[in-house]
Amino acid sequence: MNFGGQPSQNGTRDLAADLAPRHHLRAVLGRFATGVAVVGAGAGTPQGMTANSFTSVSLSPPLVLVCVHRSAAIHKTVLELRSFTVSILSAEQEHVARYFADHSRPRGGAEFDTVGWSPGPNTGAPVIHDTVAWIECALTAVYDGVDHSIFVGSVLASDYASDRDALLFFGGAFHSPALSPVSP
Ligand SMILES: Cc1cc2nc3c(=O)[nH]c(=O)nc-3n(C[C@H](O)[C@H](O)[C@H](O)COP(=O)(O)O)c2cc1C
Repeated sequence: MNFGGQPSQNGTRDLAADLAPRHHLRAVLGRFATGVAVVGAGAGTPQGMTANSFTSVSLSPPLVLVCVHRSAAIHKTVLELRSFTVSILSAEQEHVARYFADHSRPRGGAEFDTVGWSPGPNTGAPVIHDTVAWIECALTAVYDGVDHSIFVGSVLASDYASDRDALLFFGGAFHSPALSPVSP
């Protein structure tokens, strides 16, 4: 068994780890600290979904990706409209992260009633206010991630605020640390 210990000595694959229960793998992957974003889509009737699978792919060309579960309401909209936004949440926006991760949130025209937002300048997809950064993308590629789709977006517009702390997700919990550089 190799749950939570050192990597296997006899190779790169560890059979016990391969067979690890879902909650063990979730705990392992949860040790990768991330920011927290809301993926937005839809012009006119905005939709959102909390995500931490967001990552940069390339600066030139400017590409990012996010993994979206096929069952999420936003999945169909991104494929139809070929665009999405990523709003990277600030430390004051844990309630926004929880809201867009709650399957019972209002839908349709009411989904963004309690959230400040503006339409993205190129696509109309929702950009949430008071975040640390936002990115508007045209969908350029979709890869099969079994129960998820990997959406790759080409950056159309973006901006950031340098005076806000980011909301972080680590070990299955939200954090809002005062970020201090490890080395100056
Ligand atoms: C911190 C956090 C990160 C998440 N990251 C993702 C993600 O990257 N991709 C995804 O499909 N769902 C992710 N989820 C789950 C969705 O936000 C949640 O299941 C949402 O309700 C799905 O949208 P739906 O209600 O339209 O089905 C995350 C949830 C949390 C709390």
